Amino acid sequence: MFDTMTFTKAAGAVCGALLVFLLGKWAAEELYHVQSHGEASYVIEVEGGEEVAEVEEVDFATILAAADPEDGAKVFRKCSACHKLADGENGTGPHLYGVVGRDKGAVGGFNYSDTLASMEGAWTAENLNGFLERPSSYAPGTSMSFAGLKKVEERADLIAYLDSLAN
Ligand code: HEC
Repeated sequence: MFDTMTFTKAAGAVCGALLVFLLGKWAAEELYHVQSHGEASYVIEVEGGEEVAEVEEVDFATILAAADPEDGAKVFRKCSACHKLADGENGTGPHLYGVVGRDKGAVGGFNYSDTLASMEGAWTAENLNGFLERPSSYAPGTSMSFAGLKKVEERADLIAYLDSLAN
């Protein structure tokens, strides 16, 4: 049997819920309205854009000078599956002992790709920075299947670490 009180309570609850829903909808519409028509209410100065561009142009040498070799040792874990640091010990990749300042593609007994074998000059910190950001762009055709390190700080830490080992 239906008891009138229960029915009244239930109806009240439904009406209450509906009211909250309608109020919410109205508030949301009002908010949306204000935003979509608020073009001229304030203008954000875009000066910041230039600053961002400047930050990206910071010299790699400057970032390298502030690099932390200990953090670089941690970054090296990403390389250790393929590279050893001990002189002469090649793995999937050539050993990286003294790689900063070493001639490109020059480790004896390692079978380099044509791309790397034909590269001239030595691995400077700047070169390594470019290569490690995206090996496949810096050296198209390289057999180093590693996506790259996106963060310049990580690359700098790693290069500082590699450089610290051979000295
Ligand atoms: C999946 C395996 C793999 C990983 C991971 C890897 N490498 Fe390599 N790396 C290679 C191979 C293979 C080559 C040889 C490339 C060629 O001949 O084209 C190479 C070449 C290089 C060279 C050129 C060496 C020379 O003698 O000219 C450098 C420098 C290098 N890797 C650094 C790194 C660093 C630093 C990392 C970690 C951030 C890394 N690699 C991660 C496989 C790898």
